[in-house]
Amino acid sequence: MKQFTAKSFNIPALKGISAKTIEEHLKLYQGYVKNSNGIMEMYGKYNADPVANSYVLGELGRRFSFEYNGMRNHEVYFSALEGGPLPLKDSSPFKKLIAEDWKSFDEWLNGFKIMAATTRGIGWAVLWYDRKEKRLLASWVDEQHLGQLQDCAMILGVDMWEHSYVADYQPSGKKQYVEDYIANLNWEIIEENFKKASA
Ligand SMILES: [Fe+2]
Repeated sequence: MKQFTAKSFNIPALKGISAKTIEEHLKLYQGYVKNSNGIMEMYGKYNADPVANSYVLGELGRRFSFEYNGMRNHEVYFSALEGGPLPLKDSSPFKKLIAEDWKSFDEWLNGFKIMAATTRGIGWAVLWYDRKEKRLLASWVDEQHLGQLQDCAMILGVDMWEHSYVADYQPSGKKQYVEDYIANLNWEIIEENFKKASA
């Protein structure tokens, strides 16, 4: 069976987020890749007798969305830190589209950071590109298997699970973690995510 492959990321020293946190976080990412492969393999095995194994298949199907989205979300999260920080150019069509929907880039970003830092529980703060409507959307995703927007591409995803920040910021430092993650971003990569999604 075709396997998913874990990507490697060239992440520089970051503002606020320690190398140790990134190292441990990458292990969690690799776990999602391993578990996505493991579930696909198990699914094939139990699918040989689907009636007898219907409960197992049902649970594997449910778990797969958790593992797969965990894998893909982290790829967006880590790749956005590579080669950073780099700003978004004023001439960027992506920046202009944000400004069309949210008055200005700064106004959108301010609201997005507050949404990320103040939503209760673990999950992801996400900026999406809605392929059907050709517009940007921002939303919260609980864990990662509940709330992903269908046919929308993740342009920017801020991991708000505690493993992302507690070792460096303590539970009370969520707001500063969001500030620092955003400050570390390579916006050229995020713009590239937008270009690919909107092509
Ligand atoms: Fe994570």
